Formats: sequence, structure tokens, C-alpha cells
Amino acid sequence: MTTTPEPPPEPEIGPVRRRGGRSRLHRRIAGALAIGLGLLTTAGLYTAATADVNRAQAQAADAALLQRGQELYNESSCISCHGSNLQGVQDRGPSLIGVGDAAVYFQVSSGRMPLARQEAQAMRKPPLPIFDPDTAEGQANLDALGAFVQANGGGPTRPAASGEALRGDDPARGGELFRLNCASCHNFTGRGGALSSGKYAPHLEQATETQIYTAMLTGPQNMPKFSDRQLTPQEKEDIIAYVKSVSGQDNSVGGYAAGGIGPTAEGVVAFVVALTAIVGIAIWLGAKA
Ligand code: HEC
Ligand code: HEC
Repeated sequence: MTTTPEPPPEPEIGPVRRRGGRSRLHRRIAGALAIGLGLLTTAGLYTAATADVNRAQAQAADAALLQRGQELYNESSCISCHGSNLQGVQDRGPSLIGVGDAAVYFQVSSGRMPLARQEAQAMRKPPLPIFDPDTAEGQANLDALGAFVQANGGGPTRPAASGEALRGDDPARGGELFRLNCASCHNFTGRGGALSSGKYAPHLEQATETQIYTAMLTGPQNMPKFSDRQLTPQEKEDIIAYVKSVSGQDNSVGGYAAGGIGPTAEGVVAFVVALTAIVGIAIWLGAKA
């Protein structure tokens, strides 16, 4: 006869022990909370401290940027035509109050400024090497000069994006807007045209995306300004996409520019070539027979 061993006695879960477990749990939670709180406080203090440091650094960087901008303004002779307080100089240059970073970028990156000689209209020319937007140094100098004029005169600023990111995704709508707002001066495909008294609307093929955007924002010379109420940023970007698609810089789709008449011209060329070949083959077969 086998005897089953007595099962071990059930552990006693008395109310005392349960209370003991619970209070241990409480102590743990309290401990964890305290640690969490401590960490949070430290993190908070740390963030506050670094924010202070960051703010101080940002202010120092701003001050250095403005300082550099002022040096460039004085050394590049902007001061001789636009005055030490941007107020302008009679018979030399207009006030730069309210023209903003956008106008400085447009005028200086497109080589119009510093103006070499007085003429009916400032001409586009290669920018001064120190303001060449294709170099890192040029970019930094344009930023500093723009920041200086912006800080002292206010006005429109450059868009945050640049390059191809400024091409909207609806060039067809851009084309409609261009015909409505720009074609009267710049021609339907942005080839430009003469205006009265020796002035002209230039061909747009050399203008970069940021230059087209800032031209619209600031309205150089006889060109009207297009504020964001007249053309929303999205509409400006669609116009840029259109200008780039017709100005011969966007030949990524392939084919000949075909005088800006559009893709049908290429279709016609293909059709004529194919037809000529078929006729040629027919004549050759006929001659053989
Ligand atoms: C020889 C004189 C002269 C010098 C030097 C000169 N400018 Fe100008 N600037 C002008 C004149 C004149 C105009 C207006 C002509 C025009 O718009 O075609 C003008 C226009 C501008 C405009 C456009 C203002 C507007 O209403 O949109 C900006 C911005 C500008 N200049 C910035 C500069 C900066 C920055 C420099 C230095 C890098 C500079 N200029 C150097 C004479 C000068
Ligand atoms: C009333 C005529 C007129 C209209 C309308 C006009 N522009 Fe202009 N645009 C000009 C003139 C004039 C200049 C040259 C200004 C200068 O050189 O100071 C110019 C310059 C430009 C430039 C600079 C080109 C370069 O090579 O640096 C761009 C880009 C431009 N316009 C785009 C536009 C767009 C886009 C529109 C429509 C939203 C438009 N313009 C509407 C007259 C016009």
C-alpha cells in the first residue's frame, strides 16, 4: 500500500502578509516615483540651462551675423548709394527700408547690385565672387547682408526652401497664372520683351528658383510686387515650375526645346521621319519588283 505524501501546507495568506505585500509595493512605487520626479527635475533644470546657453549662443551668432552683414554693406559700397541707415542717397540709390532680405538676395545674387553705373535699369550680370550663390562663402555672405538689411529695415524674406524644392507640382496651373500675371511683359514662354524708355523685361532662363520667387515678392524696377495675398506661396511655386519647364533648364524629360511649342512638335517630327522611312521602303520595294 502506497501512501501519498501529504501535500505541503498551503502557504498562509493572512491579511497581515497581504497588507505587508501591498505596503512593499507602495514603497516601491513611491521609490520609483521619487526617482522619476528627481530625473524629471534634473532634466527640466538641464533643459532650462541649455536653453539659456542656446539662447545666448543664438544671440551671439545673430550679433556676429549682423556685424558681418554691416561690414559687407560698407565694404561692397552699398553704403555709398543707399546710405549708412539704409535711408538712400539722393541721385544715387533708393532707400532700402522695407525691401527686406528677399530684395537683397534678388539684387545681389543676380549681379544687379552693387550697381556699377547709373543706367535705365540695373542689368543682370555675374554676381561678385563674394556673393556667388553657388559657393558656400557666397551663400553665407548673402545671408549676412540680407540679415543686416532685414534687421534694420524690415520687409519680405526669402522662402525657406530653395532649388528644385521651390518648383510646385502643378506647372499647368503655373502656366495659366503666368499668362495672367507675367506674360504681358515677359512673353508667353518667359523670353522677355522691351518696355518703354529703354527698359525691358528680361528673359527668365537664367533666373534660379529663389530669384524667381524673390523677384515676385519684391517687384524690381517696373515689375509689380506679388504679395502672398495676390499669389499664394503655392501659386508662386507653380509659376516657378512652369517657368523652369519652358526655359530650357528642365530638359530632363528629353527631346528638343522645339521653340517652346510643346511636345506635339516632337510627335510631328517622329511622324514625319517614320512616314519618310515608310515611303522610302515602298519605293525601294517597288524598284526591286
Ligand atoms: C552706384 C550706386 C549703387 C550701389 C553701389 C549699390 N546700389 Fe543698390 N540700387 C541702386 C539704384 C540706383 C537702385 C534702383 C535701380 C533699379 O532698381 O534698377 C538700387 C536698388 C537696390 C535694391 C532694390 C530696392 C527695391 O526697392 O527693391 C536693393 C535691395 C539694393 N539696391 C541693394 C544694394 C546692395 C545690398 C548693395 C551693395 C552690395 C547695393 N545695392 C549697391 C544704386 C546702388
Ligand atoms: C509690368 C511688367 C512686368 C510684369 C507684369 C512682370 N515682370 Fe518680371 N520683370 C519685369 C522687369 C522690368 C524686370 C527687370 C527688373 C530689373 O532688372 O531691375 C523683371 C524681372 C524679372 C525677373 C528677374 C530675371 C533675371 O534674369 O534676373 C524674374 C525672375 C521675373 N521678372 C519674373 C516675373 C514673374 C514670375 C512675373 C509674374 C508673376 C513677372 N515677372 C511679372 C517686368 C515685369
